[in-house]
Amino acid sequence: MQRQVDLTPFNTLRLPALARHFVQADSRQQLLAVIAQQQGAEGPLLLLGGGSNLVLSRDVEGLCLRINSRGISVERSAEGLATQCVRVTAEAGEPWHQFVSHCLDQGWYGLENLALIPGTVGAAPIQNIGAYGVEVKQYIYQVEVWDREQGALRRLSNAQCQFGYRDSLFKRVAQDRYLIVSVSFDLPTLFTPQLAYGGLAAAVAEASAEAGVGVSVGMDVESGLKGLPSARQVFDTVVAIRQQKLPDPSQLANAGSFFKNPVIPVMQFEQLQKIFPAIVGYPDTDGIKLAAGWLIDQAGWKGVRHGAVGVHAQQALVLINYGGATAAELLRLAGAIQADIQSRFGVVLEVEPRIL
Ligand code: FAD
Ligand code: EPU
Repeated sequence: MQRQVDLTPFNTLRLPALARHFVQADSRQQLLAVIAQQQGAEGPLLLLGGGSNLVLSRDVEGLCLRINSRGISVERSAEGLATQCVRVTAEAGEPWHQFVSHCLDQGWYGLENLALIPGTVGAAPIQNIGAYGVEVKQYIYQVEVWDREQGALRRLSNAQCQFGYRDSLFKRVAQDRYLIVSVSFDLPTLFTPQLAYGGLAAAVAEASAEAGVGVSVGMDVESGLKGLPSARQVFDTVVAIRQQKLPDPSQLANAGSFFKNPVIPVMQFEQLQKIFPAIVGYPDTDGIKLAAGWLIDQAGWKGVRHGAVGVHAQQALVLINYGGATAAELLRLAGAIQADIQSRFGVVLEVEPRIL
């Protein structure tokens, strides 16, 4: 246990904050020991994975527990497991991208489109991470948690986690009630490419052509996958697109998308479309999901810099700390963007990372 630890290196926005107490749990045993010891203790507890979805706006008055527990196990037959699937369980502190890469190496598929998302396995269910047409909820079988209310380990089924777009039980009523200890995924051992996301199929075909590998994307998936891209090609293409669009937090401090893509009623979308014919939106179960990046971009914010903070020049959804920024400066910029988007388009942008 350390005291007065500077959390700047532990969050990808590189915001300064002090943790009164700080401890790193490097194994499942350590994690369970620390959390059991904390049971009933006074003061707030901050659970920290990779710190890639956090805005630290103040010091942590209690304990910051950094989760580094590692370990991956596999079951080839288990209750409720479909044929040609494996059940893979990873400890919460496994780095997400390395986990995806490991699964690919083992021939356990499904997570390729989620490559290069920063952070840990344990945080993946919190906001149901998603990218390139896949959400992690599609593969989660269950989430093992330490229930701080009951002081016991529990297993929550996929349905109990109440996953939604960038949302789950863990982001709502149960925020901070559960420490995610491990996550179990049911992954197919036969690969089916998921290429419906705008531009991904074309990017895979282009990358494959450049590499001299013949691939005709869009052929019938049922036809023995002949001619379709391999999981490795999809993984590599997703990595390449992300490297092009999104800033590497080790070079430019950021927390990925700062806002969620807002879902609006179809009628409102149709009205907006009359005024802004190029507006980008996709049908969603509850209406139309707008591309917030398009709105912010159109409003002229892309590349704008206010002192030490700014809007990324390649992706308007990403806010940057160019060095030495405070959370207040960042949140001021975010507030100005929200107000502008609301007055121009009548659309409310919700902040995606957790503000602490
Ligand atoms: P942290 O930031 O450490 O924590 C996030 C929240 O979860 C906090 O409230 C924390 O207390 C809590 N928490 C962490 N671990 C646990 C645990 N084991 N048990 C209980 N609570 C816990 N997200 C996407 O969905 N899609 C993307 O494409 C994407 N791209 C990104 C690109 C960049 C460059 C960056 C910087 C971020 C991106 N993100 C994306 C956001 C982020 O990577 C994810 O939300 C990720 O899952 C956060 O993991 P973490 O370990 O860093 O969580
Ligand atoms: N767009 C613009 N200008 C911009 C950014 C985007 O016009 O500056 C337009 C694009 O041209 C495209 C549309 O908006 O037509 C969507 O853009 P993109 O494919 O880049 O995705 P996004 O909606 O901006 C979401 C996620 C990302 C995820 C990508 C890929 C949210 C809030 N963000 O971004 O997640 O990686 O899709 O699936 O849903 C994150 O959560 O941190 C994150 C990076």
